Amino acid sequence: MTEDSIASRPLLEQVRSGDGVPAHIAIIMDGNGRWAGERGWPRFMGHREGMKSVRRVVTGCLAMGVGHLTLYAFSKENWARPAEEISALMKLLSEYVEREKQELAEKGVRVKVIGDRSRLSPAALVSVDSIEAATTGGDRLVLQLAISYGSRDEILAAARGLAVRCAAGELEPLEITETSFSEALFTAGSPDPDLLIRTSGEMRVSNFLLWQIAYSEIYVTPVLWPDFGEVDLYEAVLEYQRRERRFGRVTR
Ligand code: IPE
Ligand code: IPE
Ligand code: MG
Repeated sequence: MTEDSIASRPLLEQVRSGDGVPAHIAIIMDGNGRWAGERGWPRFMGHREGMKSVRRVVTGCLAMGVGHLTLYAFSKENWARPAEEISALMKLLSEYVEREKQELAEKGVRVKVIGDRSRLSPAALVSVDSIEAATTGGDRLVLQLAISYGSRDEILAAARGLAVRCAAGELEPLEITETSFSEALFTAGSPDPDLLIRTSGEMRVSNFLLWQIAYSEIYVTPVLWPDFGEVDLYEAVLEYQRRERRFGRVTR
C-alpha cells in the first residue's frame, strides 16, 4: 500500500458511508507542463510523472466501486504541439501499456481507447490494441482512455453513421433518439459522467465529452495533474456528494 493510500483511508471511508458514489468519473488531466516548468524540467517529465497519477486514480476508483473512468490523455488539438512533445507522449503511452496492462487485467479493469485512431503511429496502434486485448475480461472498472480525441469529431462521426443508416433505409430519422445517439458515440455502453474533474485550475472543457457532460457536476481543482492523488480524488467525490443535483427540477 502506498503512502497516498494510507493517508487517504479516512476520506475513502467517508466516501463509502456518504451519499452515492458516481457511476462514471471523467477527468481532464491538465497541468503536466506547468508542473515540469516549475522545476525547470522539460515538459515530458511532467507527462511521465502524470502517469503515476493515472495509477492512483485507477486505484481510487476501484476502492470506491466506481464502474467507469474516462481520462483525457491526448486531444485532437494536441496534434498541433511540437513534434518532439507528441513523440514523447506516444512513447509514454507504449510504456504505460507495457507496464500496466497485466496488473489492470488482474484487477478487473477493461481498457477502451476512444478517439481518432487513424492519426496514431503504427507503434501507438499496437499499444492500443494490446491493452484492449489484454483487458477484455475486466468487469470491475471500464477505463476509457481518450487519445487523439475530439468531442465535435465524435459527434460528427455519430451523426454521419446514423445518416448513412437512414440513407440505406435501415433507420427512420424520427427513430433517432437521445438514447440511440448516445449509443452511436465512442462512449457507447458507459453512462454519462456524473462527475467531471479538471486539474490545474482551467475553467474550460477543451472539446471533451460535450454531449455526455450535459448534466455532469463539474469540479475544478488548482492541483496540477502530477500532484493529483487518491486524497484529491476522494475530496472531489465528497464535494460531489454534497451537491444537490436538480436536473432542472424544484426539490424543496
Ligand atoms: C496535460 O498537461 C497533458 C496533455 C494535454 C497531453 P499539459 O501538457 O497541457 O500541461 P500544461 O497545461 O501545459 O501545464
Ligand atoms: C486538454 O488539455 C487536453 C488534455 C488534458 C489531454 P490542454 O492543455 O490541451 O487544453 P487547453 O489548451 O488548456 O484547452
Ligand atoms: Mg494544458
